[in-house]
Amino acid sequence: MCKGNYYITTPIYYPSANLHIGHAYCTVATDTMARYKRLQGYNVKFLTGTDEHGQKIEDKAKEAGITPQQFVDNIVLGEKGVLDLWKLMNISYDRFIRTTDDYHVAAIQKIFKRMYENGDIYKGKYTGKYCKPCESFWTESQLVDGKCPDCGREVQDAEEEAYFFRLSKYADRIQDLLENTDFLEPRSRVNEMVNNFIKPGLEDLCVSRTSFTWGVPVDFDEGHVVYVWIDALFNYMTALGFENDKYNDLSDFWPADVHFVGKEIVRFHSIIWPAMLMSLNLPLPKKVYGHGWLNFNGEKMSKSRGNVVDPYILSERFGVDALRFFLLRTFPFGSDGNFTNELLISTINTDLANTLGNLVSRTVAMNQKYFGSVLGEGGEAAALDGELKALAADVIANYEKQMERFQFSVALNEVFRLLDRANKYIDETTPWILAKSEDSKARLLTVMKNLCECIRIAAILLTPMIPDSSKAILDLLNVAEEKRDFSALCYCADENAVWTTTVGAPLFPRIDVEKELAALEELSKPAKPALEIEPYSEENVDFDTFCKSDFRAVKVKDCKNVKKSDKLLQFTLDDGTGTDRQILSGIAKYYKPEELIGKTLVAIVNLPPRKMMGRESCGMLLSAVHSVEGEEKLNLIMIDDAIPAGAKLC
Ligand code: MSP
Repeated sequence: MCKGNYYITTPIYYPSANLHIGHAYCTVATDTMARYKRLQGYNVKFLTGTDEHGQKIEDKAKEAGITPQQFVDNIVLGEKGVLDLWKLMNISYDRFIRTTDDYHVAAIQKIFKRMYENGDIYKGKYTGKYCKPCESFWTESQLVDGKCPDCGREVQDAEEEAYFFRLSKYADRIQDLLENTDFLEPRSRVNEMVNNFIKPGLEDLCVSRTSFTWGVPVDFDEGHVVYVWIDALFNYMTALGFENDKYNDLSDFWPADVHFVGKEIVRFHSIIWPAMLMSLNLPLPKKVYGHGWLNFNGEKMSKSRGNVVDPYILSERFGVDALRFFLLRTFPFGSDGNFTNELLISTINTDLANTLGNLVSRTVAMNQKYFGSVLGEGGEAAALDGELKALAADVIANYEKQMERFQFSVALNEVFRLLDRANKYIDETTPWILAKSEDSKARLLTVMKNLCECIRIAAILLTPMIPDSSKAILDLLNVAEEKRDFSALCYCADENAVWTTTVGAPLFPRIDVEKELAALEELSKPAKPALEIEPYSEENVDFDTFCKSDFRAVKVKDCKNVKKSDKLLQFTLDDGTGTDRQILSGIAKYYKPEELIGKTLVAIVNLPPRKMMGRESCGMLLSAVHSVEGEEKLNLIMIDDAIPAGAKLC
């Protein structure tokens, strides 16, 4: 029976940067919630998509020499693009919106016009501080140390004719909404919004730009494009058919049950978004939940830094479910978290391999050994079973309470309370001893039924987080389809229960921590940077001129630093003539004098002598000079020691 409709969304992603595991975090959490609601019997609409307009995209496309549309198409539809990533992460979205979709663009034009016509959008002049990477305007008071409060980068003074949205008009209503309802969670985000943005005075918001063209055109004023937030935020409604005929689920799914968003865009979702909806007299979403950020080894996550935060690499090594599980189990959803490879591996080993995987494999193995994998009718209950059953009921109730609050990590603690208890139940009931006597066979049968039932319940509860593995577990227990959802959570291990189980390969093999860390370390090393080669000379030297240069093999008899110079080394060289040759060379930065003694080098010996730091230099030593990532490197040309001093090189 359908329990009603449920609408949940993720932020729509900028297709401008490499997506890393931090981006997947919110989408995995949203997917988990959507699957949970489906299992409860709701008709779920899960929306995700891409936010494809703006100057950043226009600039990047120009850099790449392609059109902005081609640029976003590549990142959204291309190999290992956004769609591929969501497929990899097993994201069960119901609808995917691109803000470049025609129906959305036309709807945004209508929305902009409606707000202009009702007087909430007006034309003015913008002077302010603009952060180009974030595409955000800031007031002086919002800057942190004169820099963008979101990304900490430099901001520029900007002035241009622009349209404004009368955000200030809604300040009191928004403050009331935030302070006196549960619209925004966690609660700590409310104080942040009220104290940092509303109390200092909400200013009207610039909603159009003339300095770039890659955006939704304002159809009644050529040259203006809708500045990103109206375009981006209304995706949540246009994707249901608001101001367009492409879809018509608005009355079923709006207002949204929850928007999941990262903490840095809470401001847009909890202040600007409700104000815009108020302007059009539209119902507000029921809730905005601002989750924390994942860092990597304490640093901001970024694929370009060479961190192994590539979901493709991680899921290939550990499996998608292990990755999904780790994200949800380890970090409380409202807070920031620190992703480390050690933590990832130890979570997989402890929870998935030891606790869950072992329980499943021990149980099906014992079923096979003691009952040929078929647990028929009958059995003998004991008081301990009641304890297990009561604990399972408590776990289910707590789990649901935590899931309703989006506390995935706490809900998972509950599931592991049940799994731990079931493992302990094996130690307490000692099936291997019960199996020794026919008299205790009935008791053993009930013990095994209880274990199967605990696993079944845990697997259902884990389905939203690790859908494939949960299905694999339920398959090993041959659980009927109708006993796999939340309406079938009622605990039953009595005499009538029957099971046929299957022995399978381990679900989560244990990972060798040291070996795996070393492999990840290797993978995270940036690829060897390319050599920056000096441009080749365009001018030819005639052969006779070249032949005039006299190159000789020379052996280093002595080498020392030159006093008061941090550049020069002074060489005493055997050049085969019987008289020492002195050459000064500016390579002290690259070599210690003692490491060069005895080496055979190449010198050009017919250059006119030069004085350096008051000492004469008769010739020049050849070396290779090159540059790696802007850093200059130098290697002296060293040749085979078998070549005698004075040998002519040509
Ligand atoms: N386009 C806007 C959203 C518009 S919604 C109407 C945007 N896009 S984004 O691609 O930059 O970010 C998408 C989401 O990924 C945001 O919720 C952001 O918080 C989240 N994350 C990006 N890096 C993250 C981490 N390292 N950790 C957790 N979430 C992170 O913002």
